Amino acid sequence: MMRLDRKNFDKDNHSVVEKQNRFSLNCIIFAPRLHIYTSTQLQNYTQMINFLELVKKRQSDRAYLDKPVEKEKLEKILEAGRLAPSACNAQPWKFIVVTDPEKRMKIADACSSRALGMNHFSKQAPVQLVLVEEKANFTSKFGGFVKQIHYPHLDLGIVASHICLAAADEGVGSCMMGWLNEKKIRSILDIPGNKKVVLVILLGYSTQIQREKKRKSIDEIVGWDHY
Ligand SMILES: Cc1cc2nc3c(=O)[nH]c(=O)nc-3n(C[C@H](O)[C@H](O)[C@H](O)COP(=O)(O)O)c2cc1C
Repeated sequence: MMRLDRKNFDKDNHSVVEKQNRFSLNCIIFAPRLHIYTSTQLQNYTQMINFLELVKKRQSDRAYLDKPVEKEKLEKILEAGRLAPSACNAQPWKFIVVTDPEKRMKIADACSSRALGMNHFSKQAPVQLVLVEEKANFTSKFGGFVKQIHYPHLDLGIVASHICLAAADEGVGSCMMGWLNEKKIRSILDIPGNKKVVLVILLGYSTQIQREKKRKSIDEIVGWDHY
């Protein structure tokens, strides 16, 4: 537990929160005259403020440094994928981490098309995460049958999002690639024929600057209480 009054807060200010969040935190901390907050509560609040920044930071990076990604970072990124939600908690996925240069080049070839100029940058990334769809559990399959929805597609999309956001949080760039030759990738990585290769995610240190997001306006995509 840490006790925060204005004097203590000013003294420890820099170690507690980033400067940019100081104003919002002050409002929360000092609105009631004196409050006791755990350091975890404070940390959670700071992270909430920063989440949108993280979302903006994540982008499809298409140029990378020739520099490996540290194993500890990869483990954190994979953990974020492991903890993703899924329909009926089926977790219908397997992540294959590819760092072997020879295999990476082959997979990059399986994801690119010279004629269409697709994914020519994929050879640069030092890590490829290949997302494989595994069998869902009975409840997910039954629910999907009744509702005519293939839930694993949604599940894998959510996993991919967790992975890319976690990468951004670690300062690692990423790019999802859905343009791929499934048959070739299966053969390169010995993936059984009955499994679906859904996505390849590139990971590496990006050389690209943060771009403004090009997105539809909020009015175009949001309905309040009706379509
Ligand atoms: C399912 C999926 C498949 C994608 N496949 C490719 C791909 O094969 N090659 C590529 O360069 N980008 C691919 N992207 C990235 C999108 O083009 C990108 O997310 C979109 O243009 C928005 O840009 P941003 O990610 O930089 O915000 C894919 C994204 C998703 C979600």
